[in-house]
Amino acid sequence: MNTQILTDTAKAMMADDKGLLAMDESHPTCNKRFAKLGIPQTMEARRAYRELIVTTPGLGECISGVILFDETIRQQKQDGTPFLQVLAGAGIIPGIKVDTGAKDLAAHPGEKITEGLDGLRDRLKEYFQMGARFAKWRAVIIIGNGLPSRGCLEANAHGLARYAALCQEAGLVPIVEPEVLMDGDHSLERCAEVTEEVLRTVFNQLNSQRVVLEGMILKPNMVLPGLTCPLRQEVKEVGIGEQQYQVRLTDQPLDEAQAVDEVADATVKSLWRTVPAAVPGIAFLSGGQSAELASARLNVMNHRFKAQLPWALAFSFARAIQQPALETWRGEESNVQAAQQVLLHRAQCNRAARRGEYTTAMERT
Ligand code: G3H
Repeated sequence: MNTQILTDTAKAMMADDKGLLAMDESHPTCNKRFAKLGIPQTMEARRAYRELIVTTPGLGECISGVILFDETIRQQKQDGTPFLQVLAGAGIIPGIKVDTGAKDLAAHPGEKITEGLDGLRDRLKEYFQMGARFAKWRAVIIIGNGLPSRGCLEANAHGLARYAALCQEAGLVPIVEPEVLMDGDHSLERCAEVTEEVLRTVFNQLNSQRVVLEGMILKPNMVLPGLTCPLRQEVKEVGIGEQQYQVRLTDQPLDEAQAVDEVADATVKSLWRTVPAAVPGIAFLSGGQSAELASARLNVMNHRFKAQLPWALAFSFARAIQQPALETWRGEESNVQAAQQVLLHRAQCNRAARRGEYTTAMERT
């Protein structure tokens, strides 16, 4: 294993206040998002959409790396240019999703285990030869009555650590993604408690499997109340709930928006308690937050804490970067340019959030 190359790649992924763009949706997920907008669920539509993303002018100024799906890493532009060549031209590092999805965990009703370790060593070798320099594996943790169980946390953490060690052996930086889902009626405090337990378990397993922390990126959830949390409803009524944040945000620095602060503080506190300083970067998933809120929360974390933190706080969003562009595109060739502008705009907002310089005024430009 060449630790120096891994460390250099991880640093490059976090460099210049850029971040990662996840465009690694599996066929069912991609098709579901297309279906909602009346876009045909075909391989050609997926190819055309991914071409729109990778050819967005200026994307490389804000995005250091993209996470591809197996189908996408093998695809080309309509004119035959491989996507990998387009990305290289834009200075964007290609990455690849290598897990094969979350399946029901035996003897643990309501819980999931991520699969994909079988044959992984050979698949990683192939992806490295193709040009990928990092990989992603997502574990899903559900908060519920009596959940998550210890068995679920340990099984998923073990899978993440085995995957991460194999990636490093193959010269790929592993993105380790243990996602605590927003689904449920849990409070922000409960999300913090579970997130911390998950991260402690994951780092124990990473250490057991001898993963080099300097050569990995952590991709966690932000600490948020569940989508159906009664407190969230109450808060909504007084104007600082998920919907109302949008209205409440002003041109003032976002650290004055109390509700955004609360999530930023809780998230940084949980990470501070659990993530070793040797990890070079933390790149958040968006998890179903609105694009603006994801930017606002990342912004406050950096605005308030950047100088004190040992790791970079970045983004690795899928929906929070792509969704507005997908809604603009709607499968129409004539909308490609407008959709690319919307995509670039979100990437620019998130780069500003990495610097703690995002304001809602940017949403009107
Ligand atoms: O694995 C999940 C994606 O990489 C992040 O997606 O930002 O839409 O949660 P999201």
